[in-house]
Amino acid sequence: MKHTIFIVDDEESIRQALRGVLEDDGYKTAEVATGEDALKWMAEEGHRASAVLLDVWLPKMDGIEVLQNLRKTHPDIPVIVLSGHATIDTAVKATKLGAYHFVEKPFSAEHLLLTLGHALKENRLEQENTRLRKDAPPTARQIIGQSPLFLRMMDEIQSAAQSGASVLVLGENGTGKESVAHLIHEQSPRKDGPFVEVNSAAIPEELIESELFGHEAGSFTGATGRKSGKFDQAHQGTLFLDEIGDMSLKTQAKMLRVVQEQRFERVGGNKTIEVDVRVIAATNKNLEEEIRQGNFREDLYYRLAVLPIQVPPLRERVGDVPLLVNHFLAHITAAYRQKPRPIHPDAMAVLTRYHWPGNIRELRNIVERMIIMTRDPEIGVKDIPPAVTMAVSQQNGVAVSAVGPAAGLAGTYREAKEAFERAYITAQLDRHGGNISRTAEAIQMERSNLHKKMKQLGIQHE
Ligand SMILES: Nc1ncnc2c1ncn2[C@@H]1O[C@H](COP(=O)(O)OP(=O)(O)OP(=O)(O)O)[C@@H](O)[C@H]1O
Ligand SMILES: [Mg+2]
Repeated sequence: MKHTIFIVDDEESIRQALRGVLEDDGYKTAEVATGEDALKWMAEEGHRASAVLLDVWLPKMDGIEVLQNLRKTHPDIPVIVLSGHATIDTAVKATKLGAYHFVEKPFSAEHLLLTLGHALKENRLEQENTRLRKDAPPTARQIIGQSPLFLRMMDEIQSAAQSGASVLVLGENGTGKESVAHLIHEQSPRKDGPFVEVNSAAIPEELIESELFGHEAGSFTGATGRKSGKFDQAHQGTLFLDEIGDMSLKTQAKMLRVVQEQRFERVGGNKTIEVDVRVIAATNKNLEEEIRQGNFREDLYYRLAVLPIQVPPLRERVGDVPLLVNHFLAHITAAYRQKPRPIHPDAMAVLTRYHWPGNIRELRNIVERMIIMTRDPEIGVKDIPPAVTMAVSQQNGVAVSAVGPAAGLAGTYREAKEAFERAYITAQLDRHGGNISRTAEAIQMERSNLHKKMKQLGIQHE
């Protein structure tokens, strides 16, 4: 099938040049000159387009606005933004809106075709994977580990499950707090009752009480009928209060009473409702510190933390890393209907030495990304995201090449140099929260040069 590429540029000469390059390479093209026409064409013919080449600088409706619209109407079609050097800031804005590919004007045919090829390939893989994942049966929630810290936590989970007391699950991001909460419920005598989840950080302050306790009709604008709350729903089961550290003091006060007395009133109602609910709360905050700062009620803390369970960060149980990597490799390849693929021992060694700031969630994401990005029969060091390889080599005070034969010593000189540059810049950007100006200053490079380098190396950064 020939891909159709949709060109949006107000300059006739540029459209003509693009058309020439693309058609010579076997693509079909369609083109318009304005943002308004672009949206019109996409609404009618958009299904035919495999990719859009979009000029950022257009008269009237500019490229950014077009992009914003396309993200909503055609999220699956990759947009390659064409920008002149003077419009770099606009280009950065475009990245935030989800344009991951850029071609700088004046463009070289070779670069344009390369970027386009890359965008199409990535898009195809992404769609294939989303489709496979949709068809895949949900993988059972499993908790894996055998390190001493992990086994101790499993013991605590066992005893907590048997007792009916409130549990407070503590741990960094992505360590498995929610998984632990589920496990406690599943192993408790309440396992046949409901497990209901509330995320305090995700619900707007003005709605949280109605969410938790329900409301009577007409109790506030928008409250049309009577609604039951999460506490009702969790009757004879478990209520999981996630991100409890983000709950406002006002809601904490109400929460205290329910946890203590197992009764409450709906918002706008005066009938007292009694429930039988086991509460498990979780947070990645240091609640003792929050208490000192006056952000968290001490009495509620003691109510919730009858049984505190600390979920250890992955870096304190690196012995579990190989186990987890293999577990996710097996599960994710199966979910994608792929044959199981092994990982090279060098690559495993790098992963084991990484400090895992995002813990198990980060590990899972990295394994998934490696599976998506390489079709090789074995996953190797070269498939590990450069930021990880770089962090590992920095923390060990050695050059990238020392982390494994494939990392820096393979390929041509130019490829090796680019691999290093990519790893270095990605790591520095991460270190400076993705802020290009600050990164440029820190590594003593002109901001515009850094930007150019990033583009050239295909580094995308939000
Ligand atoms: N011990 C484990 N074995 C296997 N997978 C795990 C384990 N712990 C957590 N996971 C997986 O890691 C991911 C993150 O876990 P979970 O959501 O429970 O963590 P969390 O601490 O609640 O994260 P966050 O801080 O982002 O809320 C999930 O995909 C979960 O299935
Ligand atoms: Mg969580």
